[in-house]
Formats: sequence, C-alpha cells, structure tokens
Amino acid sequence: MKKTILTGLRPTGNLHLGHYFGAGQNYVRLQDDYDFFLEIADVQALTDNFDNPDKVRKNVFEITKDLLAIGLDPKKVNFFIQSQIPEIAELTVFYSNLVTVARLQRNPTVKTEISQKKELFGNSGESITYGFLGYPVSQAADITAFDGEVVPVGDDQLPLLEQCREIVRKFNSIYGDVLKEPQQVLSKTTRVKGLDGNEKMGKSLGNAIYLVDDEDTIRTKVMGAVTDPNKIKKDDPANPDVCMVYYYHKLVNNDENINTVCNECKAGTRGCVQCKKELIEAMKEFLKPIQERRKFYEENPNEVKKVLEDGTKAARERAINKMAEVKKAMKIDY
Ligand code: TRP
Ligand code: SF4
Repeated sequence: MKKTILTGLRPTGNLHLGHYFGAGQNYVRLQDDYDFFLEIADVQALTDNFDNPDKVRKNVFEITKDLLAIGLDPKKVNFFIQSQIPEIAELTVFYSNLVTVARLQRNPTVKTEISQKKELFGNSGESITYGFLGYPVSQAADITAFDGEVVPVGDDQLPLLEQCREIVRKFNSIYGDVLKEPQQVLSKTTRVKGLDGNEKMGKSLGNAIYLVDDEDTIRTKVMGAVTDPNKIKKDDPANPDVCMVYYYHKLVNNDENINTVCNECKAGTRGCVQCKKELIEAMKEFLKPIQERRKFYEENPNEVKKVLEDGTKAARERAINKMAEVKKAMKIDY
C-alpha cells in the first residue's frame, strides 16, 4: 500500500519561482509514489487575512491553477479545500487541550511571522489573535485527519511539524495509539534568492518572478536584477557567483548556456545587458509549458472546480473515518 502524503499551501497569492523550486518540483516528483492529499489551506490563510475574504477566495482558484500548471495530475493528487472538511476544525478543538499557550508562543515559525506582521499584530505582537497563535494546532489536525505520514515542506515549516509530532505523542499517550507521527521530506532547493539578492524570494519583498508573469513583466524584473557591483564597463571581467542574473541562469537555463555565461563573464567578453536579455529568453522558455497548461484551466474554470470537488470528496471520506476512530478513543462516540 502506498504511504500517504499530506501537505498544504495558504491561498494568499500566486506561486512564484521560489515556491516552484522550493516545493512544487518536489510535489511533482512525489506524486507517482504516494497517496497524495494537497490541502488548499483557506482556513489557515484566514488566520492572518480574516479581514479580506475576497482575497482568500480568489486565491483558492489561482493557486489550484498554478499547481495544475506545474504538472500535478488531479488523477494522482487529491486537491481539497480545508474549510470544506469540518473534521479538521473539530480535531483542532480536541488537540487544543494538548498544547500549552507558552509552547505556541515559543514556536519559531509563529514567532517570526508575528514579528513580520507588525501592522496586524502590533509592534510586540500584543494584538495577536487566538486563531493565529493556534494555527499550528490546526495544522496538526490537517496532517493527522488523513494519517499523513510524509509531509513535503520547506525548512521554515519544520517547527510546525515538530509541534504536530508532540501533539500526536500526547494524544496517543492519553487516549491510545490512534494518530500517526508525520515525517518531513525537504526539497532539494529549499530557498530561492530574490532578484535583488535577498536570501528569500517573497511577495512582500517585491523580488519575485511569478509563474504567471508575462514577457513584459519578466523583462522589467530581470533588467532590474542585481549583478556584480564591481563590473562597471561592458568588457570588465566579473564574478558570476555574486550576480543574481547568473544565479537565475543556473535555475532556468541548460548546462551548456550556463557554462558559456560563466566563462564569458569571467573573461570580460559578455555585457550585462546581453546577459540579461538571454536570461529573459531562457525564463520565457522555462515558463512556457507551465503557462500553456495554465491557459487550459483558465479557459475551463469548471475543470478547476471539478478537480477541487472530487479531491475534497475523497479527502472528506478519509477524514470522517479518522474522526470515528478519534471519537471512540476519546470516549465521545455517543
Ligand atoms: N503552513 C503552510 C504554509 O504556510 C501551509 C499548510 C497548511 C501546511 N496545512 C499544512 C503545510 C499541512 C504542510 C502540512 O505554507
Ligand atoms: Fe552577471 Fe552576466 Fe553581468 Fe556577469 S555578465 S555580471 S553573469 S549579468
């Protein structure tokens, strides 16, 4: 029997290359070998977007189209919407007894996010909501409702998985051996740098290339990318290893071209403008099959709806069965 994968994404915006190399590629690789449940985590997205339901709703469909576009096959992957699985909300309530407020406040991922969201939670996090603080509990419910054994995530999610395992152990020690402890699979590239050289590509940082970006958008972004600051004139030799243009050539171009860029840059026989133009072409080629697949789903929104409906139905069946086991163990199976 295949093992179960459970992973999730918050629908707060389109996918960019950071998501693709950090997670998406990993999902595509794993989809053949696992029973795969992919959660569109709208309830989690609402924890810090509760005042913007339109944004969350729109992005449920956007992110699903992006995921289909990168090559996830709905015959292999169950795409489901978190809010449509009431068992997850129920489990969250039960698990909330098994975790202390202090432990949640110490969760490194939660801490980082609170400090990034000053406008929402105040300077020292004084207006943090109960829902946001508790989202790791809800994420533990996401995973265990499906007996998720394998969770492909980026390294920023590891504290959430650790918290999930703690809840599982606590539950099992009190109520009996009912829940499974999940293991992570990290992606090969866990973090993609931004065009500005920032360690992380992100929406809020304005340094991301999105899978949906058209040629003009790509051109503007690549033309503004950070190159070797010591290269002043076109024929100055430079160091490609400190240049974001070379970094992106390595992500999206073929080996032969990558070598040419590297050698010519070092020899001073390559100008940055030409180098950027070639990157734009390589980026376009790279995104072409993704954008072509996406176009199909854009033109057929009912297909997207159907993918979500079918996946949610399959997920619900699983969650109902798990809920019965949980309630029996907790002696609330009246
Ligand atoms: N927290 C994840 C993120 O911010 C999304 C997520 C929700 C998730 N539920 C999950 C990830 C379950 C792994 C497993 O991207
Ligand atoms: Fe970067 Fe290319 Fe300029 Fe070298 S030639 S510094 S790799 S943009």
